[in-house]
Amino acid sequence: MDNKKKLNETIKFIRKYTNIKPKCGIILGSGLGDFADSLTNKVIIQNSDIPYYPNSTVVGHKGQLVFGYLNNKPILAFQGRIHYYETGDLNTILYPIFVAHQLGIQKIILTNAAGGVNRNFHPGDLMLIKDHINLTFETAYSLLHPANYSAQKNIYDLKLIKTVIKIADEKNIPLREGIYVGVKGPSYETASEIEMIRRIGGDAVGMSTVNEATLASLLGMRVIGLSCITNYATGVTNLKLSHSEVTEVANKVKHRFSELITAIFLKIC
Ligand code: HPA
Repeated sequence: MDNKKKLNETIKFIRKYTNIKPKCGIILGSGLGDFADSLTNKVIIQNSDIPYYPNSTVVGHKGQLVFGYLNNKPILAFQGRIHYYETGDLNTILYPIFVAHQLGIQKIILTNAAGGVNRNFHPGDLMLIKDHINLTFETAYSLLHPANYSAQKNIYDLKLIKTVIKIADEKNIPLREGIYVGVKGPSYETASEIEMIRRIGGDAVGMSTVNEATLASLLGMRVIGLSCITNYATGVTNLKLSHSEVTEVANKVKHRFSELITAIFLKIC
C-alpha cells in the first residue's frame, strides 16, 4: 500500500478519538516525555493501536500521541520517537512527521537527548539547535517528489530561534546555542569520531532529529530544535557512557525543560 493510503487510514483512526486540531506539535525525546503530562483535557492514543504507526522499543520512550491543551491552546505531543537504528528504514521513522503534517501541524518542536561535544557544555544543559550536520547519510528528500518540496529557507526557523532565545532570557532559563550533529547509532561514538565532529563544527551529537527536521521543513512546517545535553560525548571526560545515564540526566532537567517548552508554546501558538 502506498504512503498516501496508509496515512489516510492512520488519520481516519486518530480522528475517531479526537477532533482537536492543534497547529503546534512537539516530539519528545529520550526521558523528556513528561511535558505531555502537563497538558489538560488530554486524549491519549497508544502508537501500537494506530494503523501503520511505528513503535519504539527504546527505554524511556512511552510511545503515544497526546492531544491536549496548554491554557486554551491545542497542542499535539508525540511522547517517544522511533530511531533509525530500530528499523533501518527512513520512511518508517519519519512516518510521525507525515502524520503531524496531515493533522495540520504548522510549527513543530523537535527535542532530543544529546552528547555534549563542545567542551563548554555540561550534562543538564539545554541547547537550542541553530543548524545541524547530517551524518546519517540518509536524506528525507528521497521520500518526496520534488514537486512536493516546499523547503523553508533554513531548516530551523530563524524567527523562531530569535523568539526562543528571547523567552529563555526573560525566564532566566540558561540556554546554549549550537550545531547538532545527527548520527545513525546505535553505538556511541569513538573519541576520534567526536574529535572529528568537533572539528567540523558540531556542538552536540545524537541519533535523531536531523531527518525529521529536514522532512518537516520540506513539508512547510516551521521547526524548532532543542537538545538536552545528557552526557559528555566520548573522550570529553574519562566517564563511561550508558543509556541509563542519558535518561537520568533528562529526568533531572525535565522541570526546566517543561518550563521553557510551555513558555515557547504560549508565545508561538
Ligand atoms: N552520542 C550519541 N547520541 C547520544 C549521546 C551521545 O553521546 N547522548 C545522548 N544521545
